[in-house]
Amino acid sequence: MPLSATPRLGFIGAGRLARCLAAGFARAGYAVQAVTSRSPHSAAQLAAALPHCRAVADAQAVVDNADVIFLAVPDDNIGTIANSLHFATGRQDSIALVHCSGATSVDVLAGAHAQGARIGGFHPLYLFSGDEADVERIAGCSITVEADPELAALLGALARALGCAVLTLAGAHRMLYHGAAHYAASFALAALAEAADIWRTLGFDEAQTLRALLPMLGGTVQAARAKGLVGALAGPVSRGDAALLERQLASFESLGADHAMLYALMTRRALSLARRREHPPPSLDAMSDVTQATLERAFARGASAS
Ligand SMILES: NC(=O)c1ccc[n+]([C@@H]2O[C@H](COP(=O)([O-])OP(=O)(O)OC[C@H]3O[C@@H](n4cnc5c(N)ncnc54)[C@H](OP(=O)(O)O)[C@@H]3O)[C@@H](O)[C@H]2O)c1
Repeated sequence: MPLSATPRLGFIGAGRLARCLAAGFARAGYAVQAVTSRSPHSAAQLAAALPHCRAVADAQAVVDNADVIFLAVPDDNIGTIANSLHFATGRQDSIALVHCSGATSVDVLAGAHAQGARIGGFHPLYLFSGDEADVERIAGCSITVEADPELAALLGALARALGCAVLTLAGAHRMLYHGAAHYAASFALAALAEAADIWRTLGFDEAQTLRALLPMLGGTVQAARAKGLVGALAGPVSRGDAALLERQLASFESLGADHAMLYALMTRRALSLARRREHPPPSLDAMSDVTQATLERAFARGASAS
């Protein structure tokens, strides 16, 4: 039996992600039929916010009342819940069980697949805060889909109904895919934390640092959108200020090997961007040498967090 183009949707889990996706799908005209969660209260709250949706007693009741079931629970629980589900003979291949994790393999749904159900991944590249405004904010983001071609087409249509772009992923690459995405999320925060630590030694508290640097980050993001990574690059590396970079690296070395190593590694990435320019600054090789020397000294000293 083929998948329905207008599937009944169900949610197992009623947390931050489920609340946004379910509301977005309902707004786009999809029938979100059933929801369950660990606590009946969460399920009832989500169901009450959606037209014609029922809070049901357990995950099996969601499977029995929906065609595409989103497992929107913490990653550690996905496999256990999936393995507890039964897919009724005769309609298995018109049912899809889909998880929303970036890091967890779709293979954890193998028990459902062995019963004939379709399985897949539907990972929004978005940080859900649980705020109602997430439903609007998610538009323009990307959702990564992993599934057989028929289910991938249906999940793609669901992603587009939320106003999102669609990426497709081969399962073997999940770790690098999800890990690298951290550079736009937690690692961006970690980079700001490094700046805040250093500015604290100069007498600025974290609130002052964020007030000063968040608008700068916002401007950088806008420049990247408008000009791409190479075009948006600014700072000493982009200008080819080799002597200035050398003084900066020395200052970071004076803070400790950990700070110097991080700064030199990021500088190395900035140098790679600068090399991709149509007219790269002539001093890039010299800058690369001084950066490499800093890195080697830092590694030799051993970088423990300070
Ligand atoms: N948050 C994000 O930014 C984000 C982004 C992309 C992908 N994801 C993925 O989305 C999934 C859900 O994340 P989330 O952030 O929405 O988590 P969350 O806010 O912590 O919500 C998890 C939900 O799952 C429910 N739950 C936990 N154990 C359960 C069980 N055994 N049976 C039924 N329901 C259970 C919780 O129940 P109660 O409310 O009833 O306690 C809660 O409603 C994860 O796979 C995560 O990797 C999250």
